Amino acid sequence: MEKVTPIGSRKTDHIRINLEENVRSGITSGLEKYRFSHRALPELNLDEIDLSQVFFEKKLSAPILISSMTGGTQEAARINRTLAEAAEATGVAMGLGSQRAAIEQPELASTFQVRKVAPRILLFANLGAVQLNYGYGIDQCRRAVEMIEADALILHFNALQEALQPEGDTRFAGLLSKIESICQALPVPVIAKEVGWGFSEKDVIGLSQAGVTAIDVAGAGGTSWSQVEMHRAQNKAQALLAAEFVDWGVPTADAIQIVHHTAPHLKIIASGGLRSGLDIAKCIALGASLGGMASPFLKAAVQSLETTVATIEFMRQEIRVCMFASGAGNLSALQNTPLIRT
Ligand SMILES: Cc1cc2nc3c(=O)[nH]c(=O)nc-3n(C[C@H](O)[C@H](O)[C@H](O)COP(=O)(O)O)c2cc1C
Repeated sequence: MEKVTPIGSRKTDHIRINLEENVRSGITSGLEKYRFSHRALPELNLDEIDLSQVFFEKKLSAPILISSMTGGTQEAARINRTLAEAAEATGVAMGLGSQRAAIEQPELASTFQVRKVAPRILLFANLGAVQLNYGYGIDQCRRAVEMIEADALILHFNALQEALQPEGDTRFAGLLSKIESICQALPVPVIAKEVGWGFSEKDVIGLSQAGVTAIDVAGAGGTSWSQVEMHRAQNKAQALLAAEFVDWGVPTADAIQIVHHTAPHLKIIASGGLRSGLDIAKCIALGASLGGMASPFLKAAVQSLETTVATIEFMRQEIRVCMFASGAGNLSALQNTPLIRT
């Protein structure tokens, strides 16, 4: 999600703004409109609830993803290491931030490389899809995957963010056919991911036809990149333009259902404004396989490894209790648990 120059200061800005400013979307994820039907008699034993699943051939202890965030600076390297150690300790999945910096400056690769501390985790590489219109192709995609020994590649879509940056990469025309060739040639699955505004039905049809294996909806309701850009703006006009988009995007709960109904064969990762294990459980009941969070894990990682592990363990416990009280003994039962719309 970054421009390459000046890479360090941009990454540092992103982390600082996300930690210090209110960058939450003006709309909600929509998950608060749903609730589980309570089961007084679940006919289950709490300690036998099974949160595990296999995703892209890796076993996860819980349907939790640490969403793509950072890399490219020493501070980012420390955050990535903490997140990866926590993911390894708890058996959850993790995505790295956009690796464009390390493709352009290979000496930065080490700030993304976490396999030494997380040899077993499900790990996602990350590049901006729009770079396929700026000279990137299969070689750069392969390099991103090999650089971190990833299990899949995320191509992120951040059209609105690019449009709000003075020198954003805004040439999005003709991307789908390039994505299709990457999906055909890359030896690992391709995941299409937004960054906080979700996907519409048309997007999902296009991406499904292009051959992506999964969609991370990254819907609206959580971190808003127009708000982040507002805080980075260099003049009043840029800030005003960014501020207009605080309520923009497809709420996460809607985005999950759009993918579920439009392309039922695609795996769904839910993210964008999820803030608890209960939110993750709701997303699974709406059709997702995994729930991702960025901001909550960033805030935990800058504190300590222990805080990050405790955050994940608490979420796991929330999911377990929620499954127990709604009568779902495992994740496929949870996926088939109807939610009540309030
Ligand atoms: C500091 C920070 C950096 C991010 N960088 C990336 C990135 O490089 N690539 C990407 O696909 N998403 C990136 N994101 C977006 C997140 O992966 C996620 O989609 C978004 O923040 C919404 O989730 P949240 O509401 O849980 O924060 C970043 C998020 C944060 C907070």
